[in-house]
Amino acid sequence: MTTNFESSRQNLLLIGASRGLGLALAEQYLRRGWHVIGTVRGDDRTKLHDLREHWMNQLEIETVDINKSDEVAALHARLYGRMLDMVLVNAGVKNDDRETIADVSTEEFVRVMVTNALSPLRTIETFDGLVPSGGTMAIMSSGQGSVSNNERGGYEVYRASKAALNTLMRSFAARHASDKRTLLLLAPGFVRTDMGGPQARLSIEESIPNLVNVIEAQRGKPGLQYLDYRGQTVPW
Ligand SMILES: NC(=O)c1ccc[n+]([C@@H]2O[C@H](COP(=O)([O-])OP(=O)(O)OC[C@H]3O[C@@H](n4cnc5c(N)ncnc54)[C@H](OP(=O)(O)O)[C@@H]3O)[C@@H](O)[C@H]2O)c1
Repeated sequence: MTTNFESSRQNLLLIGASRGLGLALAEQYLRRGWHVIGTVRGDDRTKLHDLREHWMNQLEIETVDINKSDEVAALHARLYGRMLDMVLVNAGVKNDDRETIADVSTEEFVRVMVTNALSPLRTIETFDGLVPSGGTMAIMSSGQGSVSNNERGGYEVYRASKAALNTLMRSFAARHASDKRTLLLLAPGFVRTDMGGPQARLSIEESIPNLVNVIEAQRGKPGLQYLDYRGQTVPW
């Protein structure tokens, strides 16, 4: 069901908007006049709830853990009948940076792989029918997901998870070759968030407004692109 206040606005479903890059993406799209459905996990108050104080009419908060198929299906059922101009899956996790494939437990490997590769694609598959021709489906990848740029190593498990994500999105694109929608894998740069840490090169303000400009420049262009926050193509 479409509510009156959103009808003339572009609609964004933003998965993983409680903090960090997701929260900043929510704010950017609100500032640009979009109606944002931002998701958090669980019932705790988050910074997205603080943001809603200022954007009551444009921001809806939903809950979903993308690793829980029943929660993804329930969110889809709640949004069924709505038209989404864009679905952007930002949610992601990393393991301990120092952990190599020799050290990582199977459980931790599965957690990172499932959250960063399987669950984003399952989410895209689930919401596929709500994004019309000309809409955008985007996933937050990482420069670390580039196989060909991996010459220095490090971040082994995280890299593998984002490379798997990229391959799954390429497979999705190949399966929907005649699709007129824009498909994006995004590399935001190394950014100071809980995940990036205080030593990361970029502030959120140096990454996210630029990344949104890049996304907006692609709208209406069919096919899959793997782009960084400056609009440059990242090698697969
Ligand atoms: N920061 C960087 O330098 C950098 C660089 C390249 C790519 N990225 C990617 O950018 C994205 C955001 O990163 P960030 O730096 O903002 O990380 P962050 O500060 O750790 O935030 C991660 C976000 O993902 C959500 N999330 C995690 N697991 C989830 C799940 N199973 N279901 C739903 N939501 C989930 C978190 O929700 P909770 O608050 O509930 O935990 C939070 O909103 C990730 O995909 C990351 O891999 C980040």
